[in-house]
Amino acid sequence: MRIISKVRELKEYLKEQNKIVGLVPTMGALHDGHLSLIKNAKKECELVVVSIFVNPTQFLKGEDLDKYPSRDKADKKICELSGVDVIFLPQADEIYGDDEVKVLAPNIRGFTLEGASRPGHFNGVLTVVNKLFNIVNPDFAYFGKKDAQQLNLISLMVEQFFMNVVIVPVDTVRESDGLALSSRNIYLCADQRIDALKISSSLYEASKMVSRGDVQVDDIKRKMSKVLEPLEISYVEILSRDFKATKRVEIGNSIVLVEVLVGTTRLLDNIWL
Ligand code: PAF
Repeated sequence: MRIISKVRELKEYLKEQNKIVGLVPTMGALHDGHLSLIKNAKKECELVVVSIFVNPTQFLKGEDLDKYPSRDKADKKICELSGVDVIFLPQADEIYGDDEVKVLAPNIRGFTLEGASRPGHFNGVLTVVNKLFNIVNPDFAYFGKKDAQQLNLISLMVEQFFMNVVIVPVDTVRESDGLALSSRNIYLCADQRIDALKISSSLYEASKMVSRGDVQVDDIKRKMSKVLEPLEISYVEILSRDFKATKRVEIGNSIVLVEVLVGTTRLLDNIWL
C-alpha cells in the first residue's frame, strides 16, 4: 500500500497504473461503515484509493474541526488490512490556496435539513469532493447512504457538471442495537449512547407505520418526534429520494431523515423506504 500526500505524485502514479479506479473519500477515524465502502470498491475496481482529509471548508465557525477525531495510525492499519492500494493523505495547503474558486450547493436542496442547521457546509463538501475527483479521476466513487443529503448533492453535482464518475451509494452500517456507525459516536458518554438509540427507534417506528399502510407524512413525523423525546430535534423529515417535499410516503421513492443533538453531538440517520 502506498501513502501519498502530494497531488502531483498521486496523479502521476494513477496515470502510470492505467486501471479502473475506485475512490473512497473520508475524513479518517475509519470505522466499519468506511470498511463497507472499501469492500464495495474492492469488488468493482482494480485499484482503490482512500482519501483521508479533514476538510476545513465544510466546518462552520465554532464547529468541531479542531477536535475532529484523528487516528492516522489506526486508519493506515485498517486500510492496509482491507487491501487498499493507495491512501491519499494531503495537508490542507496541498488542497487549498488563497482566494479560492468554490462550488456552491444549490439554493434549496443545499440549504434545507443539514444545510439549514449548517449553512455553507455543503459548499465545502462539494468543493472538496470536486477537487478529489479531479485529482484521482476515479471511475467509481463510494458514499454512505447515512449522509443521504450529501450523497444526493454529490450525485447532482456529477450530473449537472457532466462529470465522468459513477457514484455508488452504500448501505448504512449499524451496531447490533441499531445505532448507525459514525465517527462522532465516540463523543457519546454511556447515557448519551442509550439516548442516541431513540434515533434508530424513531426510524423503525416510521417503517412500521408504513408497513401498516399509514403513509401520511405528517402522522409519521408526529409519531417519530414523540419517540425522540426529550432529545433536541434539528429535523425529522420525509422526502422523495430526490429530496423534494411529499405528503405521502411512496414506497421505493422515499427517505425518512432525522437529525438530533445528543448532548452537544449532532447525529443523523435515515432510512430509504
Ligand atoms: O462524508 C465525509 O466524510 C465527508 O463529507 C467527505 C465526503 C469525505 C468530504 O470531506
